[in-house]
Amino acid sequence: MTNINENIIKNILKDINNIQSSDNIVDSGLVKNIIIDKNLISIILQIKESEHLYKDIAQQCKILIKNYDNILEVNVLLTSELENTNIDKNNLKNKEVKKNGIKPEGIKHIVAIASGKGGVGKSTLTTNIALSLANKNLKIGILDADIYGPSQPRMLGLKDKKPEQTPIGKITTVDSYNVKCMSIGFLVDEEKPMIWRGPMVQGALEQLIKDVDWGELDILLIDMPPGTGDVQLTMSQRVSLSGAIIVSTPQDIALIDAKKGLKMFNKVNVPIIGIVENMSFYICPNCEAEAKIFGHGGAKQTSKDLSVDFLGEIPLDINIRINSDKGLPNKTILEESNNAIYFDNISDKLIKFIQKLDQDNIVDPIIKFE
Ligand SMILES: Nc1ncnc2c1ncn2[C@@H]1O[C@H](COP(=O)(O)OP(=O)(O)OP(=O)(O)O)[C@@H](O)[C@H]1O
Ligand SMILES: [Mg+2]
Repeated sequence: MTNINENIIKNILKDINNIQSSDNIVDSGLVKNIIIDKNLISIILQIKESEHLYKDIAQQCKILIKNYDNILEVNVLLTSELENTNIDKNNLKNKEVKKNGIKPEGIKHIVAIASGKGGVGKSTLTTNIALSLANKNLKIGILDADIYGPSQPRMLGLKDKKPEQTPIGKITTVDSYNVKCMSIGFLVDEEKPMIWRGPMVQGALEQLIKDVDWGELDILLIDMPPGTGDVQLTMSQRVSLSGAIIVSTPQDIALIDAKKGLKMFNKVNVPIIGIVENMSFYICPNCEAEAKIFGHGGAKQTSKDLSVDFLGEIPLDINIRINSDKGLPNKTILEESNNAIYFDNISDKLIKFIQKLDQDNIVDPIIKFE
């Protein structure tokens, strides 16, 4: 295990001069961020000129850090921040797109559904908006990245299904209601507890993205595991995400964790598409009275405070839970249900976000040197 920390790295990098300047790259502000994830060091350089001018500096960063400790892996990312981008305000929407991670050919956009706190409804939202998007004729896939507690096979009604291998050695998806799905849940025995170590988790997720025959997809939704730890950070760094949706419930404690989630994505320059408030209110099935069991509107207020979009509310409704548990999301989304509208509204907003990204046709502002 390395003993490196941010200060040590900064001191090392102070030996490198910025281009056309007598000042070093740290004091001149070129080094915008340093992310340490075990032995993986990511250095983000905020460049103002053409990227090829910085190739030498990137190379020197790698050599000097590796000289310090050879077990370290070093990624140098160049970012050219666009006008008005204000990372501290979490307002990265549409302004900066990270394109340094994995994204198989054929997949147009990868979107993470995340939360800080567990059990707030990420998997439920993922399944239902996937069906809603597919119902609007988009080609949709779900990657269930919750290695510890995969839910998608159950929620999509695919529990006893297994993927197959194609003649060229890829793994097929398992499909439900026009949604292509891949989950570690298809590949391991749910009854057997598994102990995953960091690198295994990372390897498994990368494999699930790269080795699966996703075909053509407009959007691949990633159902993230709860929390803001290593797995989540690595995923957000290693995968080329077009953006992230944060799910929260109205309670303060969930909102505090939602903010942590937001910060994590900001740290790795993934745009926040917006916040969803799940279990927002309860409609009594008998008298139709509305009750705000966990409070209400907290996520909307948090979105305002943090200048990110609010994508909508979803009621706490026993039918949503029953349909999820039984693997019948079609009953929530496709058949007559009072709840479809809430998910459809959110999927409309996601489509708008993606369309805007495509229209803006942003040139890659972040370039990675291997
Ligand atoms: N709007 C809702 N109304 C009723 N039940 C819901 C709603 N949203 C989620 N649930 C139920 O709450 C439980 C937790 O939801 P879910 O598994 O989607 O959360 P999660 O954030 O993915 O959890 P984890 O962090 O464990 O992955 C499930 O039983 C689900 O059916
Ligand atoms: Mg889940």
